[in-house]
Amino acid sequence: MTLSTEQNEIVITKDSIRIVDNGKVKYDLPHLWLRDNCQCDECRVVESQEKRFMLSSIDSKLMPVNVEYDGEEIQLRWPDNHETIIDLSLIRELGRKRKPDWKTWGVNFKPSYFSWQEFITNDSKAVNAIKEFISSGVIILSDAPREPETLELLSSRLGPLRETLFERIHNVSVSREVYNIAHTSLELPPHNDFASYTWPPSVQGLHMLENECEGGESIVVDGWALLEKLRNDHPKHFQILCEFGVPFREFDENNETYAIEPMIKIDSNNIITGFRFSNQLMQVIDPTRKKVKEFYLAYHELCSRVLSTSFRSVFRLEGGQILLVAAHRVLHARQGFVPEGKRHLQDAYFEMDNIVNNIVVLRRRMASHDG
Ligand SMILES: [Fe+2]
Ligand SMILES: [Zn+2]
Repeated sequence: MTLSTEQNEIVITKDSIRIVDNGKVKYDLPHLWLRDNCQCDECRVVESQEKRFMLSSIDSKLMPVNVEYDGEEIQLRWPDNHETIIDLSLIRELGRKRKPDWKTWGVNFKPSYFSWQEFITNDSKAVNAIKEFISSGVIILSDAPREPETLELLSSRLGPLRETLFERIHNVSVSREVYNIAHTSLELPPHNDFASYTWPPSVQGLHMLENECEGGESIVVDGWALLEKLRNDHPKHFQILCEFGVPFREFDENNETYAIEPMIKIDSNNIITGFRFSNQLMQVIDPTRKKVKEFYLAYHELCSRVLSTSFRSVFRLEGGQILLVAAHRVLHARQGFVPEGKRHLQDAYFEMDNIVNNIVVLRRRMASHDG
């Protein structure tokens, strides 16, 4: 059956409604989709806008008994007389981005600095900083308090702290107990923290309280950019790093963390969503496993690229500065330093989901203030 308006027409097939615009199919909307997305008060929980209708309550071969279309709104009547109105703006809205895309770093990239005070107190400055953080994966907050536990105060912007074993807020200074190379003055190669968790913390805040030591420059590496280049140059290496589970462990007398996971995570569209790299936490791989040779060749290439200077930015993190890194993307490192003088760093973790969604909340709040 075909219904026509001025330039548009719709074609009703046995399993969908096709919206044709100037001779081209613009949308092919399955009947099940149309029924499932009914926006009426019966099919939604009015108070919360949650979906209430459950698809299994209708037949999978459902077809509308009547359809009307005015070029913008589809009105449907179903065999049980239920009526559904779908406004095409509902579909257009779905194309709106919730967050900025990630961008690789240009040549001589340096992280952007944002004032701590403004980040905490000014919603629009916070939104700008968070957008930069999402797109580049790294920012620095300057002029933050030099008090211990200051990272707790970031919760108002970044969501709750993601706790891990060891400490809620980790202290990194040479005088501390050593369960990790970070607690020495040795050079620390690029890594992300807690590769030994199945889901490592996705955001890390590194707060420099005091830095009076010579050396110890901070290094950040754009892991995803490096992996994109690897995928392009050596697709087979990239592939095995997506598949081969690697054991990682971090532990002390009272704590134990351990996970076997591939170093690269990609989603169903082959987009990189995670990079796991920690030479210090990597454990012995069972040599009787299949493809150990292939993995090692790929890992060798990966290590050279992680240590190359192509994707890194080097700077000195001063007392009162907080480095925020998107930890599933950006690796952090530190040059060796002379352990004379005070150097005290604290770090804590957050989750990217909370940060990304906080932009929506902040924008909503700003819009309601404007109005
Ligand atoms: Fe670290
Ligand atoms: Zn309904």
